[in-house]
Amino acid sequence: MVRIRAGLSASSVAIAGSAFRIGGIMTGPATMVRCLRPDEVDAYRTIRLEALQRDPEAFGSAFELEASRPIEHFSEQLRNNAVFVAQGDDLIGVAGFARLNGPKIQHKGFLWGMYVRSSCRSTGVGAALLTAVIEHAREQVEIMQLTVAAINEPARRLYTRMGFVEYGRQERALKHGHRYFDEVLMMKSLR
Ligand SMILES: CC(C)(COP(=O)(O)OP(=O)(O)OC[C@H]1O[C@@H](n2cnc3c(N)ncnc32)[C@H](O)[C@@H]1OP(=O)(O)O)[C@@H](O)C(=O)NCCC(=O)NCCS
Repeated sequence: MVRIRAGLSASSVAIAGSAFRIGGIMTGPATMVRCLRPDEVDAYRTIRLEALQRDPEAFGSAFELEASRPIEHFSEQLRNNAVFVAQGDDLIGVAGFARLNGPKIQHKGFLWGMYVRSSCRSTGVGAALLTAVIEHAREQVEIMQLTVAAINEPARRLYTRMGFVEYGRQERALKHGHRYFDEVLMMKSLR
């Protein structure tokens, strides 16, 4: 099992008006979870596009859409979100967190873009990534939210195991090809 061996380090930078820590959680001898730096945009684009291409039914966005976007689009995602990655020799997983913007909704944040390379799944990488995002989110917001395709049992099990509870369901939320996908809405209270 992947283990968290050390906490995030204390260095901090301002991103989108709020502070977050850059550092790493060691998840095993060769895997670390850390927050991506803005200058790592090429690596981020590569794993983001891989996620959209390999698991199209898991995401609201689409490979064709994002593959056609300029690199600035990905730089902006890194500027406006905290993007955590699991790293071995290469990036093996990614998960994004965005705080909602507005006086009445800024107590909430959203998990998005969760992905672990298929060859690295079922070893605890997803749980380690999510642990890092939750630790980061806890310093900024009171509630974490996410949406997950209803058919995505592995992801739903992971989120439930990490303390998320279902609070709704959006029927036919996504349409991929001729197929519709319901989405389950989940939340975790952080305070
Ligand atoms: C959902 C996803 C992120 C999970 O990542 P993961 O790294 O496999 O997650 P974990 O390893 O922490 O947990 C997965 C399973 O492995 C098990 N596991 C963890 N460590 C293990 C180990 N050392 N040995 C055996 N099993 C282990 C967990 O108990 C869990 O089992 P369960 O599904 O029966 O509950 C991954 O499947 C994925 O990227 N899917 C495609 C994209 C996607 O669906 N994203 C979510 C969008 S909402």
